[in-house]
Amino acid sequence: MAVQEEVVSSPAGAYHGYLKRDVPKEDAELTHVGSGTAMGEYLRRFWQPVCMSEDLVDLPRAIRIMGEDLVAFRDKSGQVGVLHRHCSHRGTSLEYGIVAERGLRCCYHGWLFDADGTILETPGEPPDSKLKDSIRHGAYPAQEERGLVFIYMGPPELQPEFPAFDGYDLWDTRFKSFEVTIPCNWLQVTDNYVDPIHSMFLHSSYASIQLTESFLLKPFCRYLETPDGSGICHNTTRRTTDELVWTRINHAMTPNIGELGSAWENGLAPVHFRRVYATRWTVPIDDTNTVMFGWRHLNEFIDPWGTTDESQIGKNMVDFDAQVARPSYEAGQRDPGDWEAFVSQRSIAIHAKENLGSTDTGVQARRRMLRQALRGERPDLMPGGESKDGRPVRSFSQDTVLKISKRPDPEADWELLGEVGQRVHDAIAAADHLLGQERQDFVEKRLSEIEAEFRN
Ligand code: FES
Ligand SMILES: [Fe+2]
Repeated sequence: MAVQEEVVSSPAGAYHGYLKRDVPKEDAELTHVGSGTAMGEYLRRFWQPVCMSEDLVDLPRAIRIMGEDLVAFRDKSGQVGVLHRHCSHRGTSLEYGIVAERGLRCCYHGWLFDADGTILETPGEPPDSKLKDSIRHGAYPAQEERGLVFIYMGPPELQPEFPAFDGYDLWDTRFKSFEVTIPCNWLQVTDNYVDPIHSMFLHSSYASIQLTESFLLKPFCRYLETPDGSGICHNTTRRTTDELVWTRINHAMTPNIGELGSAWENGLAPVHFRRVYATRWTVPIDDTNTVMFGWRHLNEFIDPWGTTDESQIGKNMVDFDAQVARPSYEAGQRDPGDWEAFVSQRSIAIHAKENLGSTDTGVQARRRMLRQALRGERPDLMPGGESKDGRPVRSFSQDTVLKISKRPDPEADWELLGEVGQRVHDAIAAADHLLGQERQDFVEKRLSEIEAEFRN
């Protein structure tokens, strides 16, 4: 006690280590994902990717999702199944199972499981045994989309349609899937979706320029919800030249989807409504491990610079810097990226130890939205696809570069950036009743009008 009093009476602001040693518990409501937890049950209400299609060849694959041990497989008829990993007979892992013409056969005594958990055969039992008819093995509905295998882990009677995303099939887009494992809690990875200011520091200024130099410019930031209830956007507007203003919108979709613009965008050439470059799901393996699955969108409109190297997209690889661990601890220390930043926030970040500032507005807003959803206060944030009205999700993720001259007064120019960012968001929101090419055309036209308005 005497020591404590002595430290308290030391000069204000100095050497508070002794007083700040305690590490409070994590925010369990938002971070814990096991079955029966608030967040775990919420995440289970949405389709989640669990492996890459290319992984399901002639062997089953053991996976762990939200603390549940599972096995994924593709039988010889092409049917994809995701089953509880331990055999219903005596628990042998089905990762050692034999892929059959129909279903997956346990290696130990040959029980055969169909993709929906039906037990098709119990070969060691007498022919008239009814054992197999009295048991259902745990299984989840599975669906393959664009190179990823998704499952639905929630209550069967609440299973939503698989979400459709507007605009994904414009310009003959091809998709390449990727997977990155991350040893920390899922929430701190998704906090990164709504934290645009880190680009100026982590990606651009200290060790190396990880994105383009335009990310060094301080953006005017806004955080805006989308009209379809699909999530929150961070809208960053930068002046890149005396004549050009660049507005990027990244869209954090409920509950764990992030859509982002190109890492190669520099804001130095006019463009209207250049769409999403990568879609990412941040899926909890358990409370302290995460796997990110995603699609890189490949087409000439999204990548006019020709920088895409498809050989760099896949297993623990994605073709924009800083998303996977550096090759060594020292390399990570010398040139840290997103991976080092969020993994080192502790295995589960402790919110009670944080001191949030004005640049954390998006993080706070998104955590608040999630908490409200868990508590039943935001029925619009429940699945239905991921948009509340059941239509395809209207993605806001985009880059727009408008020809708007610099205001002589720096303060007036800064205000102008804020106004432009809001107007770009409003232009996209105004097209909410449209889909596909009609939506694209509407927004492009509206952006041209905004550009003309600011020029006059
Ligand atoms: S443990 Fe699987 S069939 Fe016996
Ligand atoms: Fe980043």
